[in-house]
Amino acid sequence: MTATTEEASATDDSTEEAELPPGPDGWPLLGNTLQLARDPVGFFDRMASYGDVVRYEVGGLPFTMVLHPAYVERLLVTDSDSVRKFRFEEFGGNEFAPDGVLFTEGEQWRAQRTVLQNAFTLDRIERYGGTMVDVAADHAARWGDGEELAVNRQFSDLTVDVLARTLFDLDVDGRGEAITSVARAINERGDPRTLSNFFLPSWVPTPSQRRYDRAMAAFEDIVDELIEERRRVGDLEERDDLLSLLLAAEEPDGYRHSEGELRDQLLTFLFAGHETTSLTLAYTTLLLTRHPDVLERLHEEWDEVLGDDDPSPTDVPDLNLTDRVLTESLRLYPPAFAVFRTAVEDIEIGGYLIPEGTNVTLPQIRLHRDPRFYDDPAAFRPNRWTGGVEAELPDYAYFPFGGGPRHCIGMRFATMELKLVLPTLLRRVEFELLSDPDPELSPGATLRPADDVRMRVRVRE
Ligand code: HEM
Repeated sequence: MTATTEEASATDDSTEEAELPPGPDGWPLLGNTLQLARDPVGFFDRMASYGDVVRYEVGGLPFTMVLHPAYVERLLVTDSDSVRKFRFEEFGGNEFAPDGVLFTEGEQWRAQRTVLQNAFTLDRIERYGGTMVDVAADHAARWGDGEELAVNRQFSDLTVDVLARTLFDLDVDGRGEAITSVARAINERGDPRTLSNFFLPSWVPTPSQRRYDRAMAAFEDIVDELIEERRRVGDLEERDDLLSLLLAAEEPDGYRHSEGELRDQLLTFLFAGHETTSLTLAYTTLLLTRHPDVLERLHEEWDEVLGDDDPSPTDVPDLNLTDRVLTESLRLYPPAFAVFRTAVEDIEIGGYLIPEGTNVTLPQIRLHRDPRFYDDPAAFRPNRWTGGVEAELPDYAYFPFGGGPRHCIGMRFATMELKLVLPTLLRRVEFELLSDPDPELSPGATLRPADDVRMRVRVRE
């Protein structure tokens, strides 16, 4: 590992002459959108060839990409007030849950985050552990020996079930499909390979816009049903889930959500809480089919730590290789492939000017594969995460869960879920990969495989 902290300074002094950063030329209007559409992942590598601060344009909007960990830290942590969240509807698409915690700002965000945080304490997450394992065991039991599956879809169903039963204490039976299809429609609507996504407003009825509208209408109906069901059943103070917590919250010790906020909060959690975790399961199983030696060592770890039992939260601290495998999988395939912001004031960084109103891209997908910080960056090597490497690696050369005040609220939930679900599944079934071992990637709202990841299931004795 060659971690360099080198020249970049997190606190560049202002210079009167700060210039706009360099960047690729683009044709007027189409800007760099065509390049992004043709090869979305290669686009980030090409940007890096211009330096650590790079200007470009997509969908007629000005962007600047920052590619040094010190600059990422500055924008996410030390100077986080100089930016706000980027609003994707500026491309002309629909607003997604504007009153949910993913997109609110200022006091509204702070108050929401404070009340929501109560659902993510360590002891609550540990209490969810048993349900996470039960759901995974239940899903594995549905797969027949020799059956061919699109595992990305299976894992979406699984993570929606986990979310519904833990955070909402509800069964989504019969409604899971509406939730996972909205996630697909959101991604399709944000897929950079479809140029109309950047240039056409949401009232133009393109096929992807129509699918989005239909999926979203069904999703919103479900959210309303879930809220109504919980209100009808009552017992809010007795319950342990996020939905009851929101419905029961009272000033001054809580923050009463308006009906609109409540709805947007559910939309936010149903989307943000399942899609990312399910993608990590898909990429991790894909990597393990390509690296059977690592899978074998994982089984040794599970046999040693768990014996014949399923995992529980108390086993998690001993699952060291499992932790390294997931860390490495999130490095290579960060489901949130970039964090987006908009400058609310002029910012000078690395000697360059990012004018107020410019959108800023902090791409995990590129920083996680930067050869300045990772040896052989494209290789899947879980053991790179041993021997104090994390201490050497600059902060924010690895940030799958973002950072600073807006870091992922579900980070502990997701890591607990992944560490429990992976052994629960892989001790029951083996997967044989049938589709491309190096799948084409589509960075829409999340980093999805462009096509289904297909695997054949073998039930283990
Ligand atoms: C592997 C799984 C996950 C990954 C990689 C991931 C990644 C991220 C990232 C990078 C952010 C920061 C976005 C930004 O700064 O603009 C974020 C925020 C967020 N995540 Fe996650 N996430 C995961 C799982 C979850 C889960 C399980 C939940 C809920 C149960 C969740 C809920 C949220 C929410 C609500 C926010 C917004 C927080 C705020 O702005 O205050 N995420 N996530």
